[in-house]
Amino acid sequence: MTVHIGAKPGQIAETVLMPGDPYRAKWAAETFLKDVELVNEVRGMLGFTGTWNGHRVTIQGSGMGMPSLSIYANELINEYNAQTLIRIGSCGGMQPQVGIRDVIIAMTASTLNSPSSGIFKEFNYAPCADYGLLAAAVKSAETKGCKTHVGGIYSSDVFYDERPDLNEQMTRHGILGVEMEAAELYTLAARYGRRALAVLTVSDHLQTGEALPAEDRERSFGEMVEIALEAAFT
Ligand code: HPA
Repeated sequence: MTVHIGAKPGQIAETVLMPGDPYRAKWAAETFLKDVELVNEVRGMLGFTGTWNGHRVTIQGSGMGMPSLSIYANELINEYNAQTLIRIGSCGGMQPQVGIRDVIIAMTASTLNSPSSGIFKEFNYAPCADYGLLAAAVKSAETKGCKTHVGGIYSSDVFYDERPDLNEQMTRHGILGVEMEAAELYTLAARYGRRALAVLTVSDHLQTGEALPAEDRERSFGEMVEIALEAAFT
């Protein structure tokens, strides 16, 4: 048991999928895993361990934003020895060629600030995905026929953004989409020598104002779970 995770030693797998929403963790575990066991419900941040094609997997909610994800990722890595951490979530599209429902696989994640920023002082660290996971996820997404984009994303501290000028600069510099967690996940994985990746579905678009209808969200989320599982065990 840690401060925020109630699992007993050994109840967390080496491979952890991290959706922001704990109820998505429940749905994904019940839909894709066998022999599922609830391993965490502290603060309602549900976590489940089961098996996929014989491989042990944990699906643990991260909550929204980098401070929340940082708590869970730190404890999963340092207290439960998680080796592979894959965020599955949604993002806002920031390029005209990026459409609603497309998949974005984040090669890098830029930030204005993250829980780790303080240790870098004047240094602009570039959080980056594990290449093996990234290559395997791209192959899986393309095999499924998903329209897939690979490149940089922006991990923002705010959902209700008051800096349209900053978003403009991100778009101008090729950033594909905005979400709120990946940069801290990549930084922690690098710090502790673990593998990390973020696989995202475009749920809304900053320029067009389009948004994914609620009934499509489950199907898109299911595709991401499969991509993440295939990438983890390739
Ligand atoms: N901004 C930040 N995070 C997000 C968004 C967004 O537009 N869409 C989905 N996650």
